[in-house]
Amino acid sequence: MIDEEILLVLKSSNDGYVSGEELSKTAGLSRAAIWKRVESLRNEGYDIEASPHLGYRLLGVPDSLIPSEIKWSLKTRTLGREVISYKKIDSTNTAAYDMAKKGIKEGVVVVADEQTKGRGRLGRTWASPARGGVYLSCILRPAMSPGEVPKLTLAASISVAKTIREVSGLTAVIKWPNDVLINSKKVSGILLEMKAEQDRLDFVIIGIGINVNTPLKLLPKIGTSIAGELGEEISRIKLTQVLLENLEANYRLVTNGDFSKVIDEWKDLTDMLGSRIRITLPNREFEGQAIDVDSDGTLLVRLDNGFIEKIFSGDVRLLR
Ligand code: BTN
Repeated sequence: MIDEEILLVLKSSNDGYVSGEELSKTAGLSRAAIWKRVESLRNEGYDIEASPHLGYRLLGVPDSLIPSEIKWSLKTRTLGREVISYKKIDSTNTAAYDMAKKGIKEGVVVVADEQTKGRGRLGRTWASPARGGVYLSCILRPAMSPGEVPKLTLAASISVAKTIREVSGLTAVIKWPNDVLINSKKVSGILLEMKAEQDRLDFVIIGIGINVNTPLKLLPKIGTSIAGELGEEISRIKLTQVLLENLEANYRLVTNGDFSKVIDEWKDLTDMLGSRIRITLPNREFEGQAIDVDSDGTLLVRLDNGFIEKIFSGDVRLLR
């Protein structure tokens, strides 16, 4: 808390100096104690200049997913008001699931700088090297039936695609149901998990992995990163903040019964409608033309015999 107060004063001074006296008054600590706090912030990666005559000046913040940095100027009501962060963890989804089972409240977000067992859809793994990507899991307790949960998948994918567009200017597009691609290569994936008993939904975990500054050599061939496409690194903190703001807004659309707006936006952010695709389901594989997304979020595919098939989940490959 004291550290957050010190940072708040330094950040509010518009990059100017703040005297040791002013800091000690605000934090209610001696000047020697302030010096110790500044030392510990430096160890966390904050670049703080100390001048004997002018005082302290903040020159740089660490590019690590530190809760206070994520929460700083975050414009959400509940999502990310509490952030639990790890330097390294097996999987943020596994951690968030365990926390939710123990009753942690809606809106808590678990983030990590590195995952050792990042999990993907359909039992796959998710490459999660240190400091390159954003790996986070949101704990939600929506008042909806388990059957409606796929709507949140679409809401999450438009949030990710929109965020990448806003923060980097790159044209991120969605491939049904929730892959986000740049130049036909996967930059982000979403893993939704839930706990439900019969018709009662207990909680949902929305796990999102985005390759932000990840060097391309650390990613699978079909993957890319924002920095890899843009040619320069971007702030993972900024991206996380915008993502949480977009996700909260789209989550509210779903829970307030405005899902049609999510579908409309999803259609604007995809380039697959009209394309020929191959769908892999657990028991069969077939081709067809992706024609639309239905009002419940399912994909409508026109088969070669003219029949329209409704796809609830599965793996889709674009054939073009
Ligand atoms: C996929 O496309 O297969 C989904 C990938 C989801 C990866 C994210 S990273 C944060 C969260 N924790 C995990 O273990 N998986 C999700």
